[in-house]
Amino acid sequence: MMNEILQQNKKSWDLVAPHFNGKDSLPSYGPFAQTEQELRLFEEVSGKKVLDIGCGSGHSLRYMAEHGARELWGVDLSQTQIKTAEETLMNREPHLFCAPMEQDIGLPKQYFDIVYSIYAIGWTTDLSATFELIYSYLKNGGNFIFSWDHPLYPHMVSRNGQIILDGCYQKEGTITYPKFKGEDAPVVIPKRKMSTYINELIKAGFTIDCVIESDVSADFDLIEEEYSERYYSLFKARKFPTTMIIKAIKR
Ligand SMILES: C[S@@+](CC[C@H](N)C(=O)[O-])C[C@H]1O[C@@H](n2cnc3c(N)ncnc32)[C@H](O)[C@@H]1O
Repeated sequence: MMNEILQQNKKSWDLVAPHFNGKDSLPSYGPFAQTEQELRLFEEVSGKKVLDIGCGSGHSLRYMAEHGARELWGVDLSQTQIKTAEETLMNREPHLFCAPMEQDIGLPKQYFDIVYSIYAIGWTTDLSATFELIYSYLKNGGNFIFSWDHPLYPHMVSRNGQIILDGCYQKEGTITYPKFKGEDAPVVIPKRKMSTYINELIKAGFTIDCVIESDVSADFDLIEEEYSERYYSLFKARKFPTTMIIKAIKR
């Protein structure tokens, strides 16, 4: 049984999926953020069984395949995304499932060397259930790596040449956006504090290896920023991290 938020988000993701084909995928961790080539969080991928949570168009899984991953598994809420991922991963024999990350759909337990999620984990309507499931999928010693908007980032707004704090960071809950990528595709996105992500990881049993409040990638070193009021901009990113990246280990 899917709750109303999941049903709404699924409908909207099915509509906007083409806007995200190949976006937010490894080696990128997020907009303007340091990349996997810079951070080297995955270490050795060759021969590993990997699971992508919110696998989208499958481009991160393709990156894993190109680095020698042995088994490619992915879960995503959107049927359109899963269909695109099947095309992206043609001839690579992926195991792809259209399902919410917060539901136990019978994926193998104690099985994966690496579970990761690039710009998808924050969509979950149940963070503790999601982290508990991810913990159960991993072998002992396995790594969980994810990236998401830095939790304070949505509150940092560029206005009149300055960056100001907008709204209330302290208040958790959900934000409803009536449009997504310019489409009539309402989405509901949970809003959580940084400490909530960290504490829920600890509660699920993980040991935290590192928390990264990403600098701007060196790829942008030669680019001069212009003042911008866009949600993601180099102007903002050079002053405040767009992305948090966390690596946790199942000991
Ligand atoms: C920005 S995209 C992720 C891109 C992807 N990680 C990649 O490597 O190409 C976010 C994805 O999260 C998925 N999503 C949203 N809510 C979800 C949920 N509750 N469970 C699973 N996937 C979800 C969306 O369908 C979308 O494909």
